[in-house]
Amino acid sequence: MDRDLRAELDLVAEASIAALRAPSILNSQPWRWRLNGEHAELWADRSRQLTGLDPDGRLLLLSCGAALNHAVVTLRAAGYSAAVERRPDPAQPDLVARFGRGESVPADTLAEAIGHRHTDRRPFGDERPAASVLQELREVARRHAVHLQIVKDEQVTAFAAAVAHAGEIERDDPRFRADLRVWTNRAHGDGVTAQSVVAATRRTVAPRDFAIKAGLEAGPGSDRGTVYALFVTDGDEPRDWLAAGEALSEVWLALTARGLAASPISEVVEVPGVRHALRGLLGGVGQPAVAMRIGVPVRETQPPPTPRRSSSATLTV
Ligand SMILES: Cc1cc2nc3c(=O)[nH]c(=O)nc-3n(C[C@H](O)[C@H](O)[C@H](O)COP(=O)(O)O)c2cc1C
Repeated sequence: MDRDLRAELDLVAEASIAALRAPSILNSQPWRWRLNGEHAELWADRSRQLTGLDPDGRLLLLSCGAALNHAVVTLRAAGYSAAVERRPDPAQPDLVARFGRGESVPADTLAEAIGHRHTDRRPFGDERPAASVLQELREVARRHAVHLQIVKDEQVTAFAAAVAHAGEIERDDPRFRADLRVWTNRAHGDGVTAQSVVAATRRTVAPRDFAIKAGLEAGPGSDRGTVYALFVTDGDEPRDWLAAGEALSEVWLALTARGLAASPISEVVEVPGVRHALRGLLGGVGQPAVAMRIGVPVRETQPPPTPRRSSSATLTV
């Protein structure tokens, strides 16, 4: 094989392996990579879709978008843009993207954040993230045609009520409870582990109730400086969910590189009635794809890394 092609293949394989660290709904990692000639294909893995919580597959595609963005960011660190065709074949909607090495670009360092990014569910500090950083994050989302809308102070109570309401509906619904039970009781390689979940304390916005014994101490944070943000798309179609996942990933890596921490809040989009009500908060403009809390971490220690599937389980040649 020609040396250049070999190097290109190695890079694409490395990028798809780095994508294993991407965040996903309940750590379900609902994707598969296929190395095919000089490009890789990213496929949605419907066998890992959450049937109660995510019947339309919006969070599945958000998760695939995060994996795709992790691969793109890894390629950029090696000095290449990615040539990406999103949802290239209408006859095969589960083919999420075709991905290969693009043009040479100046290498950037965002990929270094991949190993430091975690879902941090602990309360954050009193200090609010700097306005200039929030503006940068908005621009990162914009590059994916996604609006990062910060919930205004006077809207936080209504947002918290929407999160609490969604949580109550999910607690009362056996389909949601079944998904949580499955994905918090995995043997290894995926799912949410007790060590990443904090015990319930009084919080402005209540974290998701995983219905397991929490293994992570909440610590001294107050969440007073925490901001709540919505990833908002113009449409509400699979391509918008994919873009929102790419934006979620890149915003999260960018804020990690700035020393901030975050955790997504998706209950509000999982329950259709609450998702529609949330549109009211946006003034009826745009579609909320997922929410996120962003703040200054109080503790230097990170939550423990969460498990991942092996590259042999997710990558075929
Ligand atoms: C689309 C999406 C939705 C998520 N929703 C929530 C959520 O509602 N609550 C939560 O605590 N974590 C949420 N997460 C975080 C995942 O549980 C987390 O990414 C996964 O367990 C892997 O852990 P890590 O992010 O620390 O690598 C979400 C992640 C994604 C990508």
